[in-house]
Amino acid sequence: MQGVGLLAAGLAHDLNTMLGGILATAELMSARLPPDDELAADLGEIIGQAERAGALIRKLLAFSRQETLHPCRLDLAALLGRMESMLRALLGRHIGLSLPSRRGALVEADPQALERVVMNLVTNARDAIGARPGHIAITLARTAADDLPPEARSFMPSRDYVALSVSDDGPGVPPELRARIFEPYFTTKGEGAGTGLGLPTAYGLVKQSGGFLLLDDAPRRGACFTVYLPALPPEPAREDQGPVARPLILLAEDEELLRTCARRGLEQAGYAVIAVEGGEAAEAAFARHPEVRALVSDVRMPGLDGIALARRLRARRPGLPVLLVSGYADAGAREALEGLDVTFLPKPYRLADLRRSLESLV
Ligand SMILES: Nc1ncnc2c1ncn2[C@@H]1O[C@H](COP(=O)(O)OP(=O)(O)OP(=O)(O)O)[C@@H](O)[C@H]1O
Ligand SMILES: [Mg+2]
Repeated sequence: MQGVGLLAAGLAHDLNTMLGGILATAELMSARLPPDDELAADLGEIIGQAERAGALIRKLLAFSRQETLHPCRLDLAALLGRMESMLRALLGRHIGLSLPSRRGALVEADPQALERVVMNLVTNARDAIGARPGHIAITLARTAADDLPPEARSFMPSRDYVALSVSDDGPGVPPELRARIFEPYFTTKGEGAGTGLGLPTAYGLVKQSGGFLLLDDAPRRGACFTVYLPALPPEPAREDQGPVARPLILLAEDEELLRTCARRGLEQAGYAVIAVEGGEAAEAAFARHPEVRALVSDVRMPGLDGIALARRLRARRPGLPVLLVSGYADAGAREALEGLDVTFLPKPYRLADLRRSLESLV
């Protein structure tokens, strides 16, 4: 296991960087094509395959990784957006999927852990639906203490939560099994089909994130599982920068292709961008440009890395919004990330995800 872990970790960083370049280049190309160009489908195929390769790397990491969670400020809507193609591939054609469009569902959680929770719940919903056509809905809602289900009020602290629900229109959980489904190794799937570890794992991960995983008592149909995570307070109101100011973003990325693509993607979204190839250059640029609104940085860079850079800039300007991106953060980096109040975006990412993550920050 340790060998697999080391191998996965070593590969993940490099592969995710390369995949990031492939994804971003293909996206930039497809944005320039006329809508009915026949190359669009081919580019879509490239994007899809690169995303699947990224998902495979994440699985390998999840499988081999020790279970220490590294929470950071996380936008659940953005996370679900990133998972969309992976989830659709998981479900096949006969099961429809609806996702929330809501932005700004901010929680403090480990993105990879939450991905696994969602994957487990969606896989269960898919299996419950079986071969007939069906539908799975994932929703997000901010839930005040008063709106919690009555049976949960006795054990859930009274506060605001973000509720992420996965519901399906399958046969539901029979009442006599309700008490057992969270038990390790409890499964109704045939031998070799289920391990019975999906829900206990999800439950454990949610608990570790300070949240709760509940099975809805009386769903309208099928089954509905809800993850409640403590909601972060809404972002403080921004200062008015005047109508013409384009927010200036400082971008540090050592990989040239990724840097160029990210810069162009952000510029297309209306940001002004200073792009530099490392931590030292970023620090110097920050000193010269007090109007920088946010830092977007790769974690692993030669010299001053993204975490050290974030710390230094925050020492000069506490509260500076920071978005860190990385293909793989090793144990040391993950430990350091824990103490930093930053948003984290795993590589490879879509440019749309980069913009979405940044939008919730600046
Ligand atoms: N959406 C659902 N609808 C109906 N029953 C469900 C649903 N989700 C879970 N269950 C029941 O709970 C049991 C335990 O789920 P759990 O995810 O822990 O294990 P599993 O899915 O059987 O195995 P694995 O997750 O390893 O594939 C399932 O076997 C199933 O009987
Ligand atoms: Mg399961």
